[in-house]
Amino acid sequence: MLFSSILTVVFASLARTTLAQDQFGNIVYDAIHNATAITGTWSSGSKAVRTGQGFANPANMTFNYPKTTGISYSFTDDGFYEISRYRFNSNGSEPTCITGVIAWSHGKYTLNANGSISMSPFEDGFQQVQDPCAAISNFIEPFTTPEYYKGWRIFMDASQGPKLHMFQFDGTPLAPMFQVSVTPNMLPTQLLRNTDEPVIQRRSSAQGTSGSQWKAGVVAGAGLALISSTISML
Ligand SMILES: *[C@@H]1O[C@H](CO)[C@@H](O)[C@H](O)[C@H]1NC(C)=O
Ligand SMILES: *[C@@H]1O[C@H](CO)[C@@H](O)[C@H](O)[C@H]1NC(C)=O
Ligand SMILES: *[C@@H]1O[C@H](CO)[C@@H](O)[C@H](O)[C@H]1NC(C)=O
Ligand SMILES: *[C@@H]1O[C@H](CO)[C@@H](O)[C@H](O)[C@H]1NC(C)=O
Repeated sequence: MLFSSILTVVFASLARTTLAQDQFGNIVYDAIHNATAITGTWSSGSKAVRTGQGFANPANMTFNYPKTTGISYSFTDDGFYEISRYRFNSNGSEPTCITGVIAWSHGKYTLNANGSISMSPFEDGFQQVQDPCAAISNFIEPFTTPEYYKGWRIFMDASQGPKLHMFQFDGTPLAPMFQVSVTPNMLPTQLLRNTDEPVIQRRSSAQGTSGSQWKAGVVAGAGLALISSTISML
C-alpha cells in the first residue's frame, strides 16, 4: 500500500503536467509525448486482463474471470476501442465491504487536439458488480457511459517496452499499462448483442433460473462513478 501511495504521488505530478498541456496548448505528437502510437493492446500489472477473445461474452452477458485484477485497453488506427476491467474497490467507512467490478465495453474514440481522449461506447457494454454488503449482492447491468480522459502519454520502459499512462476526467491516473500487442486484439468492432431486448439481472441468491430470482429491467451504468470514487486496490 505504501508503494502504491508513492506511485500515486508520482502519477499525480505527471497528471498535473498533462493537465497543463490539456488546458494550455494543443498536443504535439513526439517522442516525449508518445514514444510509439497508441494503437494496439495494453494491459496493466500482471497482464492477466486482456481485451478480445476470452474475457467477455457480450452475446449472453457473461465473463470469464481472469486470475488477477487489472485493466486492458485496445485502440485501432481507424477509431475503435475496447476496454476490459476487473477490479476490487474498498470502502473506507466499511473496510470489510470489498466490491468486485468486472466490466467490458467497446465503441469509437477520438484523440482530441488538446490531448484528451473521448470515448463513445456502443450500447452492448456491460458489467457485473459483486458487493457482499449490498441488498443485491451480485448483479449484471448495461455499462454504456461515455468516457473522457484528460490526457495520455507513452513512455519507453527500459525492460518492458512501451508504457501507456492515461488520466481520467478528474486527472486521476489509471494503472499504467504495457503494450502486449502492436496490433489490437479486440472482439468485432460492432454491436454484439441485440440491445432492444430487456436486460436480465441476476440477484445474489439465484443459483439457477427460477423465475422469482430474476428481475427484468435496465439500469444505466453508474459503474464509472463507482470505480472512480472508491479506492482502487490494483
Ligand atoms: C478538450 O477537447 C475536448 C474535445 O473537443 C473537449 O470536450 C474538452 O472540453 C477540451 N478540454 C479542455 C480542458 O478544454
Ligand atoms: C504518437 O501518436 C500519434 C497518434 O496516435 C501517432 O500518429 C504518432 O505516430 C505517434 N508517434 C510515434 C513516435 O509513434
Ligand atoms: C455464454 O457464451 C459463451 C461463448 O459463446 C459460452 O462459452 C458460455 O457457455 C455461455 N454462458 C452461458 C451461461 O450461457
Ligand atoms: C461506503 O459505505 C457506506 C456505508 O455502507 C455507504 O453509505 C457509502 O455509499 C459507501 N461508499 C461507496 C463509495 O461505495
